Amino acid sequence: MVKWRTPLRPTILSRGAACCAPAWRDVDHPRNCSVPKPYLEAAIEIAQEAGKILIEELSRPLDIAYKGDEVDLVTQADKRSERFIVERLTKYFPDHAIAAEEGTGHEGASASEFRWHVDPLDGTTNFAHGYPCFCVSIALAQRDMLLAAVVFNPFYSELLTAARGEGATFNGKKIHVSKVATLSTSLLCTGFPVRNRKASPNLQYYGDFTQHSHGVRRDGSAALDLASVAAGRFDGFWEFNLQKWDTAAGVLLVEEAGGKVSDFAGNPYQLGGPVILATNGLIHEEMRAMALEISRRALPAPAHSATNS
Ligand code: IPD
Ligand code: CA
Ligand code: CA
Repeated sequence: MVKWRTPLRPTILSRGAACCAPAWRDVDHPRNCSVPKPYLEAAIEIAQEAGKILIEELSRPLDIAYKGDEVDLVTQADKRSERFIVERLTKYFPDHAIAAEEGTGHEGASASEFRWHVDPLDGTTNFAHGYPCFCVSIALAQRDMLLAAVVFNPFYSELLTAARGEGATFNGKKIHVSKVATLSTSLLCTGFPVRNRKASPNLQYYGDFTQHSHGVRRDGSAALDLASVAAGRFDGFWEFNLQKWDTAAGVLLVEEAGGKVSDFAGNPYQLGGPVILATNGLIHEEMRAMALEISRRALPAPAHSATNS
């Protein structure tokens, strides 16, 4: 293994092939890897390939299993997509840690400060019902800092990418969050847990936010929900008890598109934290104030569980 010089600033952009070599200086480079790739370019390539697997699987007979005793579904598509993503990431970045939803990553084994967060199929329930709102979500973090993010909906060929400090794009075009400035004129979205469903306080929030906005959508893919905030389709999103792989890519997309991400107390959102609030920034304080007001009346949020995906 050749260790290359530590960069002043990691090069994480997706660029044309001619730019690959200089960018690759910045990463651990296996001797036998013939085509060097910057982080974001690698993530895009892998997400698009994984997307092809999902589309192939969409037309095959479904093989659904339940991860718990509620509605936490897993299909052969989740597993095949994850197997491919983990294999390819490991080939390109053998020293990096990989946290992948279906458990085939190698999270703890690596001493690397680089960690990939992989949701091989976000929106499994939608996928299983043929509702085309699902995606592949891949993000790279260096310690606590998100560096690169890709969310890809293969059904609509919608590719959203972000690189820290470089902005966010939607099918190659720069994007910015919406300019909607009031909660009362906003379109929001949220999601509901697939485990401990009865303990979730979210119906209360769903009802109140619905009455104080243009509406609240519930699309069933947290990664796409966040990507839609980044793209200006939604003005705000909140959800309880999401996992790191659900939010990692979407958080960087929102931040790089000019939005804001926090918890309900206004503290920076920690990946895997008990609640996420992501907005265009303009309605953040209004949403936060209303969320705090609702929380005084609502049941406490269920304790965060590592298995509640
Ligand atoms: C789910 C989706 C959904 C959210 C659930 C997640 P999965 O992920 O992101 O929108 O409400 O909490 O578990 O299981 O489809 O990868
Ligand atoms: Ca997910
Ligand atoms: Ca998933």
